[in-house]
Amino acid sequence: MQNRREFLRNTMLAGAGCLAAGALRADAARVAEGGAPMLGFACKPMETVRVGVVGVGSRGMGMINRVSKLPGVVVAAVCDIQDDKINKAKQSLARQKRPEPKVYKGPEAFRALCDSGDVDVIYNSTPWHLHVPVALAAMNGGKHVLTEVTSAFTVEECWQMVETAEKRKVHCMQLENCIYGEIEMLTFNLARLGMLGEIVHAEGAYNHDGRHMANDLFPAYQYWRYDWYREHAGNPYPTHGLVPLCLTMDVNRGDRMDYIVSIDSKNAAFADFMAHGLKKGNPRAGQKLKVGDMNTSLIRTVGGKTIMLQHTVSVPRPYSRLQRVQGTRGMIADYPYRIALEGDGKYYYGSGAHAWWDAKRAEEIRQKYKHPLWKTIGEIAKKSGGHGGMDYIQDARWSYCLRMGLPLDTSVYDLATTGCLCELTERSATNRSQAMDVPDFTRGAWKTAKKMDVVDIDLAHFKI
Ligand SMILES: NC(=O)c1ccc[n+]([C@@H]2O[C@H](COP(=O)([O-])OP(=O)(O)OC[C@H]3O[C@@H](n4cnc5c(N)ncnc54)[C@H](O)[C@@H]3O)[C@@H](O)[C@H]2O)c1
Repeated sequence: MQNRREFLRNTMLAGAGCLAAGALRADAARVAEGGAPMLGFACKPMETVRVGVVGVGSRGMGMINRVSKLPGVVVAAVCDIQDDKINKAKQSLARQKRPEPKVYKGPEAFRALCDSGDVDVIYNSTPWHLHVPVALAAMNGGKHVLTEVTSAFTVEECWQMVETAEKRKVHCMQLENCIYGEIEMLTFNLARLGMLGEIVHAEGAYNHDGRHMANDLFPAYQYWRYDWYREHAGNPYPTHGLVPLCLTMDVNRGDRMDYIVSIDSKNAAFADFMAHGLKKGNPRAGQKLKVGDMNTSLIRTVGGKTIMLQHTVSVPRPYSRLQRVQGTRGMIADYPYRIALEGDGKYYYGSGAHAWWDAKRAEEIRQKYKHPLWKTIGEIAKKSGGHGGMDYIQDARWSYCLRMGLPLDTSVYDLATTGCLCELTERSATNRSQAMDVPDFTRGAWKTAKKMDVVDIDLAHFKI
């Protein structure tokens, strides 16, 4: 029987040996089956959820504005390194007649907040390099953690998140808002109803030309994502396109990711932008980056399903998370939304899905099979905003679950399974796309784990 460190050491040794032989295989199956105590974990119902927000930048402020309108949630503390961000957060809460938050200021101030009795939950919306330190400090301080994506980047960090959550018996959920997107939830609902048949393949992405951000934010500060792009190849932001597909495909709930192969294109567009596109005076001008213009990965699950996953932040193109799900009875896709089902949803071979259905029929499906959560709070979510409403639904769900004492929609195992792909895609892409085994962070519990339910919110307990 191997413990985790032995597994990592052997994996690295095996990797070093096999790289030369051309067949790297990090053998996740060798990890001892130890169960996954945080699967289905629920804490005691909380009458009021006291949240401490670490990092009140763009994402943290958006969250403060949204949760201030939710029942039973109080932003009890804010933590940042910048006065103007803290002041904006305080002003926003004052405008909404919410209690004044306690302030923690400074690069290490999150530690005092995490150890304090001021909050129950840490909402971690810091830059990437702080995600793991803040989450670990929070869990070690006995706080539940909701942590922005990408929540952990390496296999080792992912094990640390899993082990700490298990040891401290606290939630550690990645804030993957895209699982609450309207089409993602429609897809999930159709899959659960069997209308797509058996799912065999899916495609997801974070294809977002984000170059403008480097200029929008300059000279206020140097954008931290570029530090990562300079140091790393592969896919640093896998979760937006992937996690909704994982829920639809029962990853960690009856199936699990087996292995991944990944390939990077060169970064001609990014190199051009870094040489000529940055605002005058930006010291990053001419800097060389390791991230490719397009990363493409292929995943195979133990159950035989495949997923194609892409990442680009540097080419001129429309935004897309793809969200294409292929079943034995039909296919659904987003960007734009389209659907084609064989035999009108009643099964017979070779008819009905040769072309996308016309807009009217597709819209009928969209309305008729809307996910219950979108039926219940979709309208208010759209008005509240946040990526078309999915941010509101995400915040409504975690706060509702915490107040009702229900399990959260995803667990630390989902965080780890998807976060570790940052390292695995980089290792594969920089080693001629060799296959990388995806560790089984559930240590066998995926086989019997309950499938994700079609969840909802009971408005009797959620008075908006
Ligand atoms: N889920 C989504 O749709 C989505 C969208 C955008 C960003 N994000 C994620 O949200 C996170 C934050 O992104 P952002 O755009 O808000 O970034 P941002 O740079 O606007 O905000 C980060 C904040 O963290 C603060 N900070 C830095 N060091 C700190 C420290 N030591 N202690 C406390 N605060 C510190 C900064 O001062 C800043 O206010 C990132 O992980 C990003 O990937 C997610």
